[in-house]
Amino acid sequence: MISDQRSSCRIVVTSLLLFFIIMSHALTEGPRFAEPIPNVTVALGRDASLPCVVDNLGNYKVAWIHIDRQMILTIHRHVIARVSRFSVSHDNHKTWLLNVNQVQQEDRGYYMCQVNTNPMISQVGYLQVVVPPNIVDSESTPSSVAVRENQNVTLTCKAEGLPTPKLSWRREDGQPIVIDKKTKVMIQEGEQLNLTRITRSEMGAYLCIASNSVPPSVSKRIILDVEFSPMIWVPNQLVGAPSGTDVTIECNTEAYPKAISYWVYEGIMLLPTKKYLTDIQENSYRTYMRLTVRNLTSKDFGSYRCISKNSLGETEGSIRLYEIPLPSLAPRTTEMGSHAGKNALKSGVVQRTTTTEIPEVKTTTAYATTMSNYVIPASAGHRIEAYWPGTFLLLAASFLFHSGQTVLSIHS
Ligand SMILES: *[C@@H]1O[C@H](CO)[C@@H](O)[C@H](O)[C@H]1NC(C)=O
Ligand SMILES: *[C@@H]1O[C@H](CO)[C@@H](O)[C@H](O)[C@H]1NC(C)=O
Ligand SMILES: *[C@@H]1O[C@H](CO)[C@@H](O)[C@H](O)[C@H]1NC(C)=O
Ligand SMILES: *[C@@H]1O[C@H](CO)[C@@H](O)[C@H](O)[C@H]1NC(C)=O
Repeated sequence: MISDQRSSCRIVVTSLLLFFIIMSHALTEGPRFAEPIPNVTVALGRDASLPCVVDNLGNYKVAWIHIDRQMILTIHRHVIARVSRFSVSHDNHKTWLLNVNQVQQEDRGYYMCQVNTNPMISQVGYLQVVVPPNIVDSESTPSSVAVRENQNVTLTCKAEGLPTPKLSWRREDGQPIVIDKKTKVMIQEGEQLNLTRITRSEMGAYLCIASNSVPPSVSKRIILDVEFSPMIWVPNQLVGAPSGTDVTIECNTEAYPKAISYWVYEGIMLLPTKKYLTDIQENSYRTYMRLTVRNLTSKDFGSYRCISKNSLGETEGSIRLYEIPLPSLAPRTTEMGSHAGKNALKSGVVQRTTTTEIPEVKTTTAYATTMSNYVIPASAGHRIEAYWPGTFLLLAASFLFHSGQTVLSIHS
């Protein structure tokens, strides 16, 4: 009997104990994290906040630790780290915010939020610090480069940033980049831009652009100069005009560095005077030189030279100016070819075609056709011009290449 009573008593006590243990657990449920710490991405120099949300904190305390630096930053409301950029704020003892002002590179890494239970509980979040791209000038091609024509050149741009920036190249003037003879691209990716056997048409400003999805993207402008000795192209090597008229002759030159260009007649450099009008138009590495000789006299007929000089060399072109007699009025009048005819219609002038002697010149022979025009066999790309008082007609050089011969039409 006694032993029965004892055992039933023991059961009651054990049950009561279990009940109290369970009850006390339910009533004083310990702290637990309500949500994970988010991964936060912030640009260098900006402010960031990492939240740690804890339920049932009670009298326990929250601490923040920077794992990468093994540094306790905050405990409860106190900032422990001697880094003034860190601070802590909380909302009802539930959300504990670690604030980082003006984030630096060394702030990147894992952050632990810890509660001093026994055993302690913790969770971890990551602070990513991104850096906008920057072009490292000291490791990049200088902003101006000169290279000789037909040589190879490599333009380089080095960029830093996080994530690692991507580099691309394009030409400022919107022209394509010549990768090799067969490949032209508007944009070329990569740190290096290899240009092989460079030509003068590749001269200009190139931009390397660094971007890594963190604004702003940056670019560097590199001016590429392609150097070559002067070249001269003379559109009309033979120019005929009557005495008493003005005549303009022209030379086109290409040179880089920029050339000094001038005209020479009978060994004398021609300076602008009443007699000579000089005009120079420049367009990048091209120069158009024009010389107008006024009121032609017999002394003016002869060989003119245009000369172009730069540091790499010198070249010249020559133009022969010959006299043609003043036209006597046309013995016959014929309709002109299409081009001249149109002009005639526009201006309402009746076109006259005149048969005139063409002075004998070495490379050009002329003969009259039944159409009372001159047909001149194509020779060395010459263009023939005939000047008449008051008006003149230019014959396009392209005629020569198209038909192999030029119809020289002269009208007064
Ligand atoms: C944060 O990023 C890590 C990997 O870097 C990942 O394992 C974790 O789940 C991320 N946390 C959140 C809250 O997105
Ligand atoms: C330029 O590059 C081309 C093609 O890579 C090569 O054939 C040539 O020899 C190079 N020229 C010079 C001067 O380095
Ligand atoms: C450019 O040339 C360099 C050597 O000068 C070479 O290492 C690199 O691979 C080339 N880049 C390209 C895109 O061809
Ligand atoms: C052209 O030159 C001639 C002779 O040299 C002269 O008599 C005449 O006045 C000049 N005409 C003009 C427009 O200058």
